[in-house]
Amino acid sequence: MPSNLILVTGSAGRVGRAVVAELLARGFALRGFDLVPTPGLGDSVVGDLASMGDVRAAMKGVGTLVHLGATPDDDDFMTKLLPPNLVGVFNVIESAREEGVPRVILASTGQVVWWQRMRGDLPIGIAVQPTPRGWYAATKCFLEAAGRSLAEADGRCVLAVRMGWCPRTAEQAAELAGSEWARDVYLSPGDAGRFFADAVQAPAWPGYAVVYACSRPETHIVYDLEPTRALIGFEPRDHWPMGVEEMLLGEVAKVTASLHG
Ligand SMILES: NC(=O)c1ccc[n+]([C@@H]2O[C@H](COP(=O)([O-])OP(=O)(O)OC[C@H]3O[C@@H](n4cnc5c(N)ncnc54)[C@H](O)[C@@H]3O)[C@@H](O)[C@H]2O)c1
Repeated sequence: MPSNLILVTGSAGRVGRAVVAELLARGFALRGFDLVPTPGLGDSVVGDLASMGDVRAAMKGVGTLVHLGATPDDDDFMTKLLPPNLVGVFNVIESAREEGVPRVILASTGQVVWWQRMRGDLPIGIAVQPTPRGWYAATKCFLEAAGRSLAEADGRCVLAVRMGWCPRTAEQAAELAGSEWARDVYLSPGDAGRFFADAVQAPAWPGYAVVYACSRPETHIVYDLEPTRALIGFEPRDHWPMGVEEMLLGEVAKVTASLHG
């Protein structure tokens, strides 16, 4: 009988906190894993993805892995991207393999299909060749490839999710507010939480799958959400700026005002 325990890595982060809140609301048993304690979570492991010992210990007894922990955008490769996004992915996939975790859900990014969007080849489907924006997106191609290998070689149910943009700071929210394409790929915290919870609850799919996750676009459909609907039944409820907290909106107004003098 597979375990009901869900391990959420990156549980203290922007998306992680939304996912934890939704999974708790749906009554799931959760363990968090992050460099810092996860607010509101009893079983909250403080550990480093770059440590195989930390990851292996956290993976004990897990039935579903939701892997969000990462450096979430371009940064110094050797010190910021390599440890969590490459070594960490190796540790997470290998320990999930050892532990026999049957379902693995991996946070990838729309930045892996960046150049299709820049060329205007829309909507972007799930079958296109990756065109990574930079080194961060290249680490997510590694994540997707590692997940595919786990599915094919070990028969696990693996989902790689190319996520839209869930802003982490007021500056990012202001940037998003000022950009049409970005508003079309906005991912609200609520939709992010519901997406991952739906992926946890969906009937098992065969092997490896890749899907997109974003909220409802404002003008153009950038990512094809039909495979997402078909596979896990996720339907976005929000659109920009729904779900951006009031506090953040206040900050956005300040930043926007300062940008416009
Ligand atoms: N927010 C977005 O717009 C967006 C878009 C596409 C993909 N993603 C992906 O979603 C995931 C979550 O992103 P987020 O926006 O919540 O970022 P975030 O920075 O808010 O959260 C990431 C979490 O990972 C943790 N973490 C980083 N390195 C770690 C390590 N070595 N060991 C343990 N924990 C570590 C951080 O402490 C943080 O809490 C990431 O994989 C990111 O690449 C995010």
